[in-house]
Amino acid sequence: MTNTIRKIGIMTSGGDSPGMNAAIRAVVRTAIYHGIEVYGIRRGYQGMIEGDIYKMATTDVANIIQRGGTILKSARSKEFMTDEGMKKAYDQLTSHGIEALVLIGGDGTFRGAVKFFEKFTIPAVGLPGTIDKDLAGTDYTIGFDTAVNTAVEAIDKIRDTAEAHDRLFIVEVMGRDAGYIALNSGIACGAEDILLPETVTDIEAVLNRIDYDERRKKTVHILVVAEGDDFGGSEAIYKKIVERFPNIDVRATILGHIQRGGSPSYADRVLASRLGYAAVNALRDDRTQCMLGIVNDEVVFTPFTQAIKTNNTLRADMVEMIHVLSA
Ligand code: F6P
Repeated sequence: MTNTIRKIGIMTSGGDSPGMNAAIRAVVRTAIYHGIEVYGIRRGYQGMIEGDIYKMATTDVANIIQRGGTILKSARSKEFMTDEGMKKAYDQLTSHGIEALVLIGGDGTFRGAVKFFEKFTIPAVGLPGTIDKDLAGTDYTIGFDTAVNTAVEAIDKIRDTAEAHDRLFIVEVMGRDAGYIALNSGIACGAEDILLPETVTDIEAVLNRIDYDERRKKTVHILVVAEGDDFGGSEAIYKKIVERFPNIDVRATILGHIQRGGSPSYADRVLASRLGYAAVNALRDDRTQCMLGIVNDEVVFTPFTQAIKTNNTLRADMVEMIHVLSA
């Protein structure tokens, strides 16, 4: 049974991720197909507060499926976390006649949404748009696959030069709280070690592995470090290594925001398109206040309050495999 929603708002919020544009395109086109008007909210919750809102046409989303970034722009809004900010945002939505929302973002976006819905009633669905993959209720998030591929391409290049100079490289990848990019790119690149925020880094064990590799004349050693590793990231690791091994030629590279940009992979485009399409149908069917995700190739619905639970642990078998495969 479909309802009579006639106007929806859509926004992207938090760190951008490749595939957000593909998701916007899918939402806009599916909604307009069903006779629903779509209003683009620029710069996430901040644009919502400021009324930076415009009516979108199908042509507004032409030629964007292959583009990184987000045509709606993104922001992290401190003002939205205040009572006044939320009230202003709600007033803007009602004055534009917006009856429901599609929120594309990550953990911070949905945490904001949960607080907002405690005060104001407006139907909403969320799409997981983050390179970090740190949400429960989905096997993949929009942008994760592309970010990992970007990291893999960069680390492969670093291995070439590392081998040419017999150097040890520390490569820092994104992930303040989540080690999925580090774990997956590290395994894909045959990293000798991978340091993750979810596990306690035993620095002595890291140094002993370097020592062992030195003694057996393994000339290349690549250490992939997640930005949020508890030991302190690439800089802290670098200091420890040069202190212990003054004769090893060590370099550190921070990949940084390069991982957030670029043309989305096929996997991210298809994921974004499927979820964007399903989001509009969910709003029409009154399946709201939840994030849509993909689990075992099926679209599933997880309440926002559950999606932001950070009990999304790394696969133990993948963590175990790190040192077996790099032997
Ligand atoms: O969007 C996720 C993320 O890229 C994290 O991996 C990283 O810690 C953070 O955003 C960086 O945020 P900012 O671009 O605001 O510095």
